[in-house]
Amino acid sequence: MQKKIALIGPLLIALGCSAQAQSLQTPGYTAAQAKRGEAAYVQSCTGCHGDQLDNGEGDGAPALVGPAFVQQWNTKTLDELFNYLNDSMPASAPGSLAPTTNADILAFLLSKNGIAAGAAELPADAAKLKGMSGPK
Ligand code: HEC
Repeated sequence: MQKKIALIGPLLIALGCSAQAQSLQTPGYTAAQAKRGEAAYVQSCTGCHGDQLDNGEGDGAPALVGPAFVQQWNTKTLDELFNYLNDSMPASAPGSLAPTTNADILAFLLSKNGIAAGAAELPADAAKLKGMSGPK
């Protein structure tokens, strides 16, 4: 028993340190990418989520801007939102859009939720998005 504790102690310390070192990046995307995303959004998402992303029509799809939306995703890493789009949206044809299109749409959603555009595109790569925070 003593030996086990001696082994587990340093392991826990190592785990604690690596969790602390893993600080999340603010997501980046380019203005051109968000513009492509907007076009794709208008084509595939407006019908349910509204052209202002606030679901003005009120037919059951949640708003994709504002505090309620941000609260859903701000404690998660960005890959979760990306995977959600890939797996579950558009609700009428889940998984029908290419991952690159979903990354563009995600860039558009970030732009509408107060995240500034930068120099690098948002990658269509869940492993990379795992290192980024959700919209805050
Ligand atoms: C046919 C209607 C419909 C279409 C089209 C649609 N959605 Fe949705 N969407 C919904 C519904 C309904 C929900 C809520 C699902 C739930 O609560 O399980 C939802 C949920 C979401 C959420 C989660 C919102 C939250 O508060 O966490 C996101 C993000 C989203 N949709 C993005 C999109 C995007 C991007 C598109 C276009 C590619 C799209 N949706 C197209 C109906 C739709």
